[in-house]
Amino acid sequence: MTAADGYVTDVSYTPGFYPNMAPVAMRYVAALNRVVPPQTANGFRYLELGCGLGRSLTTLAAANPKGEFVGIDVNPNHTASIQKDITAGKLSNARVITADFGHLPKDLGKFDFIALHGVLSWVVPTVRDAIISIAKKHLASGGLLLVSYNSMPGWAALQPIRGILRQYALLRQGDSAQRMRDALAYLVFIRDKQAKYFEDNPRAATYVDGLLKQDVNYLVHEYLNEHWTSFYFSEVAGMFGTAGLAFVGSLPVFTNFWDLCVRPDFQELFRTTTNRLVTESHKDFCANTAFRWDIYSNGPRMMPEVADRLREADDLFFHVTAANVTLPYQSNLGVVTSTVQGPLYQSLLGLLADKSLRLSEILAANELKGTPPADLARAVDAGVAMGLFDVTAGPLGSRPATSTASLEGAVSLTNPFNKAILHLDSLGGRALALASSSTGTGHTLGDFDAAILHELVERGRDGLTSRIETRLLGSGRALQQNGQPVSDAAERSQLIQQSCDAFFANGLPQLVRLGIVDLDSVV
Ligand SMILES: C[S@@+](CC[C@H](N)C(=O)[O-])C[C@H]1O[C@@H](n2cnc3c(N)ncnc32)[C@H](O)[C@@H]1O
Repeated sequence: MTAADGYVTDVSYTPGFYPNMAPVAMRYVAALNRVVPPQTANGFRYLELGCGLGRSLTTLAAANPKGEFVGIDVNPNHTASIQKDITAGKLSNARVITADFGHLPKDLGKFDFIALHGVLSWVVPTVRDAIISIAKKHLASGGLLLVSYNSMPGWAALQPIRGILRQYALLRQGDSAQRMRDALAYLVFIRDKQAKYFEDNPRAATYVDGLLKQDVNYLVHEYLNEHWTSFYFSEVAGMFGTAGLAFVGSLPVFTNFWDLCVRPDFQELFRTTTNRLVTESHKDFCANTAFRWDIYSNGPRMMPEVADRLREADDLFFHVTAANVTLPYQSNLGVVTSTVQGPLYQSLLGLLADKSLRLSEILAANELKGTPPADLARAVDAGVAMGLFDVTAGPLGSRPATSTASLEGAVSLTNPFNKAILHLDSLGGRALALASSSTGTGHTLGDFDAAILHELVERGRDGLTSRIETRLLGSGRALQQNGQPVSDAAERSQLIQQSCDAFFANGLPQLVRLGIVDLDSVV
């Protein structure tokens, strides 16, 4: 296998957009944990370490024209592919550098945000040291760093799977993808013959089924790197501590609320602990965490009161996530099911259903007068954690009516990056993300919806269903229902019609609201 410092380079990674990497997501986690987030209104700098095929980097650059985005990756195939997207998407605020973390250009300067996703657990210890040095040298004062990694104890019972795959792959011939296919076949063989490891670890046996559905290139990067390590939270906090960084919070947002992560039986453990570093370790044990997205700050400035938050971070906007949400609203976040109900949430729902508001505007609303600001801020944050509300970097318009009449007219895309990505990728067999400068982040679209949108933009509405069908047949991708391929032509046409109807009813209005799609109104 070809590798740089034990990291595979002969097979490219898979393209993916990760919303956790958006500046708006990182800023919100800081704000909810009472840490002043970096200001972005007048521009900011963002560095991604190990940007792979760069879809997070480029989508975020397209969604944040005031930011300057720099990506670093050692694999020249990755950086060449990103450069193509940058050129096709006319992104003048993004650039990519082919370099090892140990040998970065001298003039990189300071960044308000540094992000590394899918890197720390997969590189040799000396490269980890290089990452810590970069954090120390290049994160601006008050800047935020996002790091994701495989964590313990969630990986404890599954770690041998990685060992089996890597050891068997090393014995095989060919490139890393071929070796991974061979190793998977071996893994399935010993699982199906009920090797004692699988008999003793039933979760590992089911885990193998999940692996078989994954892209082989993803599996190569996840499992074949020589120095794969899963860390305890405290180990990572220790590493970044040596760079002078302090833990701020984590993503997804609900992970900042221990009561949403662990069963009520553990409440005492959390109530009696004030040290956040200890709380995080308790939480990982109680919830068996296998993956973490942590945010660190270089010299966090605290905002103890809601008034401080209104002064320092009132440029975030809140809205209700989906149309027609009603109370009581339930969400299961893995271990516990939580219910949102009561008059306070009823008022918030009414207020944020059709518009997005800043925290100061929510606090000033007539219907919420009398609720202490701290309780209200906490209710909004808990609502975000449970998926009831979403946070954006700018205001959103109201939801367009879903009647087809109001959604007639030519469909166009406002951002050249979105045009380029749709052109390159729709019906490529995977979801893709389009950038919204209203939200400051990307929004994922299934590949079928992407194909519908692409056809609408390129050739309009006439004969849409039959064009999609022709395109589908040409792509070699089978349409599926309930996990089964649909071969009957009439059934296939009906399903495509249903998908188009659903897109007009839900997908298109949402894209209009996000400012991704423009509709020329029909007079
Ligand atoms: C698993 S991929 C993650 C890619 C990307 N962050 C994403 O989420 O799609 C890890 C990336 O780190 C890069 N990488 C590994 N070691 C590196 C090093 N020493 N210097 C620079 N890049 C490195 C790899 O080439 C790869 O693209």
